[in-house]
Amino acid sequence: RIAGPSGLVIFGVTGDLSRKKLMPAVYDLANRGLLPPGFSLVGFARRDWADQDFAQVVHDAVREHARTPFREEVWQQLAEGMRFVPGDFDDDTAFKQLREAVEELNASRGTGGNFAFYLSVPPRFFPKVVRQLKKHGLADPPEGSWRRAVIEKPFGHDLKSAEELNKVVHEVFEPDQVFRIDHYLGKETVQNILALRFANQMYEPVWNRSYVDHVQITMAEDIGIGGRAGYYDGIGAARDVIQNHLLQLMALTTMEEPIAFDAESLLTEKLKVLRSVRVPDDLGAHTVRGQYAAGWQGGEEVVGYLQEDGIDPKSKTDTYAAIKLEIDNRRWAGVPFYLRTGKRLGRRVTEIAVVFQRAPHSPFDHTATEELGQNAVVIRVQPDEGMTVRFGSKVPGTSMEIRDVSMDFAYGESFTESSPEAYERLILDVLLGDANLFPRTEEVEESWKILDPIEEYWAAHGRPAQYASGGWGPEAADEMLARDGRSWRRP
Ligand code: BG6
Repeated sequence: RIAGPSGLVIFGVTGDLSRKKLMPAVYDLANRGLLPPGFSLVGFARRDWADQDFAQVVHDAVREHARTPFREEVWQQLAEGMRFVPGDFDDDTAFKQLREAVEELNASRGTGGNFAFYLSVPPRFFPKVVRQLKKHGLADPPEGSWRRAVIEKPFGHDLKSAEELNKVVHEVFEPDQVFRIDHYLGKETVQNILALRFANQMYEPVWNRSYVDHVQITMAEDIGIGGRAGYYDGIGAARDVIQNHLLQLMALTTMEEPIAFDAESLLTEKLKVLRSVRVPDDLGAHTVRGQYAAGWQGGEEVVGYLQEDGIDPKSKTDTYAAIKLEIDNRRWAGVPFYLRTGKRLGRRVTEIAVVFQRAPHSPFDHTATEELGQNAVVIRVQPDEGMTVRFGSKVPGTSMEIRDVSMDFAYGESFTESSPEAYERLILDVLLGDANLFPRTEEVEESWKILDPIEEYWAAHGRPAQYASGGWGPEAADEMLARDGRSWRRP
């Protein structure tokens, strides 16, 4: 899978995402030999830069963040195809210049008219940028070539705004020209969920309400909001990652087998299960939100959310959210799905734990199984990529005592291949036109339908509870599970 003649235009090229993820990903792809020799990269931003200044910025970003070693000849080849267009999104002259740059690159680098436009900009600019692309003839592919738009989240902040955004984008681009990034889908371990379920025989028979007690999906981060106050305040944890990453993880864990591994079939199944998701009636009892307070993390004293630079000291934004969902279908009816995420938690870990019911009967005496937990399959998304199966085993000795043990699969031990960074994989897929790993409009809207009532409830009811940085979130989250006779895993 090597991309054919093509180029990438990045709007918002001075942003964090671009520097930390996109530029290094382009270099890593080139370094792995997955880009065509004439690949071209165009930056667009409000900066007074020449092409060389832009190339220098990319160079520094690559040096700092690329995964693969720096090789001068790869860099040189890539740098020759870098162009910069200064201007803002209202500026017709700048878009004319962009068009000229694209045409010049088609001629000088053989990009074949194939360009992807990456909108790494806040969503309020999407309408303007896509309309400018249309107006300046950049959205319509010349005969025999392609044009694609890559859109970063957030896709709106509720269903209504998402629908409006989608409408504008689709006035200009056909559905198959639009690639919405949910970078979790670019992660190896996330792609492996479907491999695990549908390339094997041993999991699927028990992957249902007859055997599964409940499922916990955790995305814990140790970092705070960093320099992202402007983006984060007013958005919060649930909109930031539950609406997209965690609901995608849930959909992959619960969907039926797609008839084929292609974008259409995946969409069909994901959509079906997302549409069956039910939000509990009593949202007060089945959702919890929190906000990090000052505390200690990794041996350092850290400030609380309300003391962070750029945050309104009265902010009600959630930096922690836990919700319970159910799925109303034959496979999952009655099985609770607990989703939680938070910043400034004990450690960085994302995992999906499928927790099984207890054995219906035990021939062993009660004391033998006293310590026994429930069987679980834990898909370790990150950072310790792999999977754990937990089950009971006899403790060596002269009596019959049974204790939990685990069996581990670790990427590092089983594979010599290294995992590409999520953005590498996704950028390559955009250039190849492979839409499997990109959520479609319908999924995004369906996910907002799940979240909207929860956000509305929260907006009308009080404030998030404070929780200490470096801990595992508000007590109310433990109480939420305790009421169901369960407890959160401590990954
Ligand atoms: C992003 C969120 O989508 O995912 C961030 O906007 C979050 O708030 C990030 O920190 C986490 O990504 P990863 O790949 O480090 O788990």
